Amino acid sequence: MNIQEKSRYHEVHARSLRDPQGFWGEAALDIDWIEPAKKIFDPGMGLYGRWFTGAVVNTCYNALDRHVAGGRAEQVALIHDSPLSGSVTKFTYAQLLHEVKTLAAIMQDFGVVKGDRVILYMPMVPEAVVAMLACARIGAVHSVVFGGFAAKELATRIEDAKPKLIFSASCGLEPGRIVQYEPLLDEAIRLSSVKPEACVILQRPRQSCELTAGRDHDWAELRSKAVAAKKSADCVPVLATDPLYILYTSGTTGKPKGVVRDNGGHLVALKWSMFNLYGVKPGEVWWCGSDIGWVVGHSYIIYAPLFHGATSIMYEGKPIGTPDAGAFWRVISEHKAVAFFTAPTAFRAIKKEDPEGRCIRQYDLSKFRTLFLAGERADPPTVEWAEQQLKVPVIDHWWQTETGWCIAGNPIGLGMLPVKHGSPTVPMPGYQVDVVDEAAKPLPAGSMGSIVIKLPLPPACLPTLWEQDARCREAYFNEFPGYYKTSDAGYKDEDGYVYVMGRTDDIINVAGHRLSTGGMEEILASHPDVAECAVLGIKDAIKGEVPCGFLVLKAGVTRNSAEVEKDVVALVREKLGPVAAFKLAITVGRLPKTRSGKILRGTIKKIADGDPWTMPATIEDPKVLDEIGDALKERA
Ligand code: COA
Ligand code: AMP
Repeated sequence: MNIQEKSRYHEVHARSLRDPQGFWGEAALDIDWIEPAKKIFDPGMGLYGRWFTGAVVNTCYNALDRHVAGGRAEQVALIHDSPLSGSVTKFTYAQLLHEVKTLAAIMQDFGVVKGDRVILYMPMVPEAVVAMLACARIGAVHSVVFGGFAAKELATRIEDAKPKLIFSASCGLEPGRIVQYEPLLDEAIRLSSVKPEACVILQRPRQSCELTAGRDHDWAELRSKAVAAKKSADCVPVLATDPLYILYTSGTTGKPKGVVRDNGGHLVALKWSMFNLYGVKPGEVWWCGSDIGWVVGHSYIIYAPLFHGATSIMYEGKPIGTPDAGAFWRVISEHKAVAFFTAPTAFRAIKKEDPEGRCIRQYDLSKFRTLFLAGERADPPTVEWAEQQLKVPVIDHWWQTETGWCIAGNPIGLGMLPVKHGSPTVPMPGYQVDVVDEAAKPLPAGSMGSIVIKLPLPPACLPTLWEQDARCREAYFNEFPGYYKTSDAGYKDEDGYVYVMGRTDDIINVAGHRLSTGGMEEILASHPDVAECAVLGIKDAIKGEVPCGFLVLKAGVTRNSAEVEKDVVALVREKLGPVAAFKLAITVGRLPKTRSGKILRGTIKKIADGDPWTMPATIEDPKVLDEIGDALKERA
């Protein structure tokens, strides 16, 4: 019998599509509901139906209270491991619950009630987890903004979410650099027409900041007063269909999309995934090495492991340089993690520093069972290297901010399917993944097309964009009627394995971070000397892709082009943030275009990547491509 025959996957997936209500209704039995759903799925509600309508629940209760009541009070819930601050801090379920109850009461004192939005602009510290769970406890809707985004990006999110309260910190720690948050927060609030009523600031020992009188409050002071006064907030019941959080992600314009996550569907799908997909049992130690600012961090540093009664590791460090390429193995071995989830880029960075895997052999990894990769395509050489070095299954899996959990993966708990390098394996329950042509016609196995998901989407996937139903329809549901458009392109093979090859829009993936080149072009175009520009992702050995900007200067500009290039690099860092890793701008005389005026981005990318390319038949002037080639050679 081969591995595939032993797996329950095919039977489970088929049932989830044949009888979605039965399947998710059963999965929902693992959740503590205040009132059960009136309907497991109501096709009449929302943009494509809603899950668990009429149910009343509390997400924080399912993450903490029920485990404390059920015998896990003394089990460690969260391990904060920070090589950047030289500390390891552990919280039991009881301790974490105490912190959350206290902070939730503080939030109530600020007048935060169910449905209010709260923004977090925070580094990877346990207080951020406490704040997210405290929001969930009182029904407030959190929106976490990744620390590597600049003030303007934070301002856009403040403007859109209209938060009553903002949580932030004095600083974040990056290798060799302290990121001061307060100036960024000040600038963002100045730029936004919407002002929060208050900010709660965590003063970190490494560097404190000056608080703005009348606006900022010291986190530790509020906490100690609340603890002395024995303040504590109870769970506020919310509807399963009420929003738990908004997470902004890059769209095809500079304006990010506020992906909404609901309470009920999120609880059910994430709880289901911890054993069935990741093979982790309650009580075991699990590590997701992402950042809380990304969806992977929301789902798998915080929510899913806590729903499951597992121990979750939160890591403030990098794969290399904190202090060396053995950092990951130190964490796995020291805390006895059974499974680890990271992005392929981290492995490429480790492989470059430690190609022989010497650091790996310095640690006892005997408890470690599985490595999961996501966030970008897992290139086969990286997967092979990881397999050879770690001697455990290396599982690529594919998902998006919009879905909140895995679309296609290899379900360890149901019985692992054979791994095919280059494929994240097969659709998870509730996902009918099709590959279609432009007319939404399903394509045969092996044919490349747009990857779409048949509606309804399973629980946890986005019900809508924050206060933007029309934009949600337009972005995801209109182009292929009856389907959700993933904006990824790829194919399926004869065995139903999915291959995700790249985006169909302007999104690029830089070190596992999702960025819009359209957004960067808007920034470049705002420079007074730039007449025209194009930004595209070009291959990078570590980060997968990095952005590269091509500029055409306005007629009559007398400044040296190198100065303008330096300006725009600084401008992207200032407006979008360091995470964009925008370091390369090249001035050219003209941009290659079709006769109808469309910039030939695809061809420029092939030239930049050194891939074979053919002269597009519709090109306006073929000589322009030679000029681009020469400019790239000069920079190489
Ligand atoms: N706050 C402030 N700045 C941040 C930041 C944060 N939270 N996170 C990153 N940055 C900054 C970095 O300091 C860096 O700035 P620099 O240009 O001054 O060096 C820039 O943003 C790019 O950061 P990063 O993408 O982390 O690249 P890097 O060159 O510092 O490190 C890797 C490269 C591969 C080691 C790193 O990208 C990595 O660990 N990637 C894994 C990503 C991941 O797990 N993603 C989760 C998605 S599932
Ligand atoms: P994000 O919303 O930041 O999680 O980014 C989602 C996008 O990252 C997807 O649409 C894909 O383009 C890409 N992506 C994520 N995981 C994978 C994977 N395993 N294989 C290929 N692409 C992936």
